[in-house]
Amino acid sequence: MTTLKDNFFWGNSTSSMQTEGGWNEGGKGLSVYDVRPATEKTTDWHVAIDNFHDFDTDLDLMKEMGMNMYRFQISWSRVVPNGDGEFNEGGIEFYSRLIDGLIRRGIEPMVCLYHFDMPLALAEKYNGFLSRHVVDAFVRFSEEMIRRFSNRVKYWIVFNEHNLYFGPEAYTIAGYESGEKTLSELYTIFHHTVLAHCQISDFIHQSYEDVRIGGMLAHTEVYPASTSPVDNLAVRRFEEFLTYNLCDVYAWGHYSEAVLTFVKNHSIDMDWQEGDEKILKRGISDFISFSYYRSCLLDASKITENDSPNHYFEIGMKSDLSLPANEWGWTVDSVGFRNIISRLYSRYGLPVFPIENGIGQRENWDGINTIQDDVRIEYHKAHIQALKDAVELDGTEVLGYLGWGLIDIPSSHADMEKRYGAVYVNRGNHDLRDMKRAKKKSFGWFQRAFKSNGEKI
Ligand code: BG6
Repeated sequence: MTTLKDNFFWGNSTSSMQTEGGWNEGGKGLSVYDVRPATEKTTDWHVAIDNFHDFDTDLDLMKEMGMNMYRFQISWSRVVPNGDGEFNEGGIEFYSRLIDGLIRRGIEPMVCLYHFDMPLALAEKYNGFLSRHVVDAFVRFSEEMIRRFSNRVKYWIVFNEHNLYFGPEAYTIAGYESGEKTLSELYTIFHHTVLAHCQISDFIHQSYEDVRIGGMLAHTEVYPASTSPVDNLAVRRFEEFLTYNLCDVYAWGHYSEAVLTFVKNHSIDMDWQEGDEKILKRGISDFISFSYYRSCLLDASKITENDSPNHYFEIGMKSDLSLPANEWGWTVDSVGFRNIISRLYSRYGLPVFPIENGIGQRENWDGINTIQDDVRIEYHKAHIQALKDAVELDGTEVLGYLGWGLIDIPSSHADMEKRYGAVYVNRGNHDLRDMKRAKKKSFGWFQRAFKSNGEKI
């Protein structure tokens, strides 16, 4: 008998550029993703799985699978084509229909407001989130979406994998086009995204009593590569910078002392302005959500005193070869998943919500036989069990469990060969084929798991 609450959320999670297509239709402006050329190994983002033209087929499948939540993204450039100008009513109408379609099927919508796809005009003109003008434009877009939809959308996320804006990927995902990539620039980008998150959070809390906003992290579980004190210290420093610094903002409205000390010692200019402290204080979140796929080891042997913990991942990350892994080297570690849920809850006391989890697999459909994705079933089974352990044995409060891309979508490296779905989408990287949906073996397994509220796994 599981103790998961009756209103526990089970569902799917996606981004707009990985699902919608319709990149130049319905008044949409260009985002930085729309102009990334396809390579031999990767597709472009122009079609994705074509939800712009038909989302009903996929919503029906989600309902059939027993889902009661879908986390999707509102694309900024679909709604404000150049990022800071006129609103595109056609784009807003598209999301309004999607939300209605979900509610009609008994599926609670969760909206994410930014998933790496900066409107191109703002990237080119202002260098993305390096500029406060872009922060203001993003807050304006976000508040308008909340005004329009909060009567129907009660769960909001601002930045997908927000802590990535504090690591080496920050420049690519923040719409940064040119510069020196100094620590001051990195910290400024991060600080600006935090200001945006906190202003939006405050806006929600001031205006709507029944609307919830969550912080969202990319959470890999990181273990020391050896028992040595230096490896342990490196892991702690890494977590302090990449996890706790942001969660401290979500839960307590301030940055970590360790990070602020680093800023002072290294004379980093993070564009801290008068009034920012107040914005952070007022920007508390209601829950902490995160993506989790795998665990890694951190080997401190190459890390020096001069290296910033923001870059430890690049310098010292290794795979734990004793764990099973997929073709891309992503380990399977459900214990790491339980550790994260329990640690976050124990430290912050806020409800925790894993909103991305899954395993990428290479799969080919012959057009007739069901794809036997037992590896995926085993992966989710172990992770749902770990979540239940975190609730039943560690006493955590968990709001739900969302799988990533449970209807196949291109992976974030735009490669259609790395699939996460319980439903196969019949397209390749360059060959769109017929885009038909075909249930894999895991579809029935998910259906039982979700409909039994996690009991039959
Ligand atoms: C998360 C992102 O990092 O992981 C998604 O939010 C991404 O956009 C997902 O698709 C899985 O990563 P990948 O590279 O396997 O697609």
